[in-house]
This record gives sequence, C-alpha cells and structure tokens, in this order.
Amino acid sequence: MENQFSQYQDLEKIMITRDEIQTQVKEVAKRISADYQGKTPVVVCILKGAVMFFADLLRELDFPLVTDFMAISSYGSSTKSTGVVKLVKDLDRDICGRDVLVVEDIVDSGMTLSYIKKEFAQRGAASVRIATLLDKPARRRVELDVDYSCFVIPDAFVVGYGLDYDEKYRNLPDIGVLHPRIYTK
Ligand code: IMP
Repeated sequence: MENQFSQYQDLEKIMITRDEIQTQVKEVAKRISADYQGKTPVVVCILKGAVMFFADLLRELDFPLVTDFMAISSYGSSTKSTGVVKLVKDLDRDICGRDVLVVEDIVDSGMTLSYIKKEFAQRGAASVRIATLLDKPARRRVELDVDYSCFVIPDAFVVGYGLDYDEKYRNLPDIGVLHPRIYTK
C-alpha cells in the first residue's frame, strides 16, 4: 500500500503512516474544539506545506470559523532553514481584534512562527495560537510556545502529506524520512 508511488523509493523509511496521521489529527481537533467554544477564530493556513493538515483538521473542528491563507518562504531548495523569513503572500483579511489559530506543517528552527506571531500581535490580534502537524524541538533556534502539536519528531528531514523537498513529495499520503542521497547529490 505504502509503495503505490514510485517516489517512495527516495525515502529511507516511513515515519508516520496515513492512518496514524488521521487518528492524531482527530485527537488534536478535539482539544482545539474544546478550547474555541463560543469563539469564531480566523484559522490561517501557512502555504504550501500545511495544506493537507489544514484540510483534514478543518473538517474535524466543531465551531464556527473563517479561513485565510499566508505564504512564507525560508528554505529555497535546501534542507536547512536560511533563517531569513520572507512574506510571499499576505492574509486577505484584517485580523485586528480577532482570535487567530495558525496552522503550520512543521516547527523546525521556530523562526517562521515567531515572525508570524510577532506580526499578528502587531496587527492587533486578540489571541494567536499555533497548531502544528510536526514539531522538531531539537532544532529550535528561538523560544516559541506551540499550543497544539500532533507529533514530536527527531531531527530528520521529512517529506509527504504536504511537506516537500524542492517542491516535490507533497502528494505522498504518508510522512517519510527523505534519503540523504537525494539532497547530498
Ligand atoms: P522554521 O522557520 O525553521 O521553523 O521552518 C519552518 C518551515 O521549514 C516549515 O514550514 C517547512 O516548510 C520547512 N521545514 C522544516 N523542516 C522540514 C522538513 O523536515 N521537511 C520539509 N520541510 C521542512
């Protein structure tokens, strides 16, 4: 089943299966739903990596919400964050006075989300919380509170379920460790 795509040959191993992802997304959605009762937050998808997580999570959230999208770049085509965060696409709406839930694929150095948190606070958001699919705490370079995280993972470069290397592998339904031969060529 896992090997339905030829791109799985580029993986060292599967780290998290599609079934494990779905189970954990439902669990985290329950916690988020309990915390946001009576509120109508703006739920922000950080493009492009969080698209799959965002789509699955949203369908499990049991409260009224509005959506928005933001694109940030910090990687280029490498596996190491440049540390330079660039805003590629801004939100469409004003978030002043709104509760904001930011949905991200992975927290690595923490630079991207700490930039977003500061930026949203400056724009007058009533609250800013973070929901991430993956958390790689070993690589953190700035202090950051992660409110909701589905999986804490070791320091490895992972792809699939929205996460990419050089824009590829986003379509894999499972999350796997990319074989180093792919990026050390
Ligand atoms: P940070 O600013 O270093 O926390 O990086 C966050 C961004 O880096 C994420 O939104 C991802 O796009 C990317 N990233 C970090 N680690 C990985 C990984 O293991 N695989 C794919 N992308 C990653």
